[in-house]
Amino acid sequence: MKYLTFALAKGRLAEQTMDLFEKINMPCEEMKQKTRKLIFVNEELKLKFFLAKASDVPTYVEYGAADVGIVGKDTILEEERNLYEILDLNLGKCDIAVAGKPENREMIKTMNHIRVATKYPRIAKDYFDKQHRTVEVIKLNGSVELAPIVGLSDVIVDIVETGSTLKANGLEVFEKFCALSARVIVNRGSMKMEHKRIMDIVDKMKEVIK
Ligand code: PRP
Repeated sequence: MKYLTFALAKGRLAEQTMDLFEKINMPCEEMKQKTRKLIFVNEELKLKFFLAKASDVPTYVEYGAADVGIVGKDTILEEERNLYEILDLNLGKCDIAVAGKPENREMIKTMNHIRVATKYPRIAKDYFDKQHRTVEVIKLNGSVELAPIVGLSDVIVDIVETGSTLKANGLEVFEKFCALSARVIVNRGSMKMEHKRIMDIVDKMKEVIK
């Protein structure tokens, strides 16, 4: 039997994803330990797991280096990879929002040229395109909330979960425009070749998240 390989997103979703695998009796115990090792094998069930940067998970899945991936909808939208999205796990729920300094809330409605800092340039551009607004999108890789504070941008487009990062930095949500959660994604070829194995696992996940 061939190994079935799972790419899991590091960061905010990692723990919940590993708990989910535990609940469906596919534990990846070793992954919870602090180690520099990158890939973990369950010989008995012929499974492999690895943790990757969230934005890389759809890439591994599209190319078939992983059969299945677990990653946030934000990353799926931003990466636009050729793959199947087959299940909403309802984990890691949050939103994508436009946010900024409270005093800029009204001003940005009429400004001709808005600077937007974000980890999600495609999502941000799509949002403002739909509103027929011309924006300059500045790509950042983290701590996006800094941008309006230090004058890099007028607003940000970023994930808001509890809102505490915005609050702690004197910023507020202007508009939430996209609800997010963790999704199961599958390589197109694997979906054909390993259909039963994959769907059995997905069915178990559905049971657990019910
Ligand atoms: C995310 C996001 C916000 C924060 C939102 O960043 O980009 O900064 O979490 O969460 P909250 O509403 O619960 O405060 P993450 O922690 O993934 O790190 P990063 O900023 O380094 O990307």
